[in-house]
Amino acid sequence: MSELLRAEGIDKHFGGLQALKGVSLCLEQDSICGLIGPNGAGKTTFFNVLTGIYRPDAGLVHFAGAPLPAGVPHAVAARGIARTFQNIRLFPSMSVLENVMVGRHVRTRAGVLGAVFKTAATCREERDIARHSRDLLAYVGIEAHAGRIASTLSYGDQRRLEIARALATEPRLLALDEPAAGMNGSERRALAALIQRIRGDGTAVLLIEHDVKWVMQLCDQITVLDYGECIAVGTPAQIQKNPRVIEAYLGTSAA
Ligand SMILES: Nc1ncnc2c1ncn2[C@@H]1O[C@H](COP(=O)(O)OP(=O)(O)OP(=O)(O)O)[C@@H](O)[C@H]1O
Ligand SMILES: [Mg+2]
Repeated sequence: MSELLRAEGIDKHFGGLQALKGVSLCLEQDSICGLIGPNGAGKTTFFNVLTGIYRPDAGLVHFAGAPLPAGVPHAVAARGIARTFQNIRLFPSMSVLENVMVGRHVRTRAGVLGAVFKTAATCREERDIARHSRDLLAYVGIEAHAGRIASTLSYGDQRRLEIARALATEPRLLALDEPAAGMNGSERRALAALIQRIRGDGTAVLLIEHDVKWVMQLCDQITVLDYGECIAVGTPAQIQKNPRVIEAYLGTSAA
């Protein structure tokens, strides 16, 4: 296996609050990596730094063999990192299919003029985008809902739609912020199978999740944050036994 992502010494302050303190995280190609920790530990802030929403105060991110630009979301997306959000961010009044097509436009060639004047090439590209987007809806299991307005989907299906939209950018790394939140047991099992399939098809996955049992079953490697600090890194078996993790996060009942 070879390294896909290496974040080193990431600091992020919000005024007097240090949300990330020298956080480092490595992720191999073809792996599923979990990022866990109590509420407010800095997990989402780490995703926001990684995906260019925030510029870190210190630290570097290497991705696919080259430094990743800091604080430039579209450049990060173009380099092959896609994400979903803790609070679902879809275009609620657009159709399910259109939501995925928006993601796909990151990879298209037709410029603004082509879109306005609807050249033959633009029309062909638009058809290709629609076909590819339908395939992605099938991939995540919601193709039957392609024509519905996104906000009418169940919570679990909206999370799947966010994944389809993220996949439309053809990422090498998919970062999921609490993808199983609000899902019931069978939805969680189906989501775990989907995440494994995504990894099997060549996209590494970094995921934030509070359901520790679910994370442990799914991930190859886990990083634990507490008060903005990385307190443990290891396999699920190593993390389960780590005294700092048990004290900070898992509690004695989960040990
Ligand atoms: N934009 C912001 N401005 C000020 N403080 C922020 C901002 N974003 C996050 N924080 C603070 O930084 C800390 C880390 O927040 P973050 O959202 O990264 O935690 P988290 O681990 O994702 O928590 P949760 O599990 O509740 O989602 C918290 O104390 C939070 O209040
Ligand atoms: Mg969060």
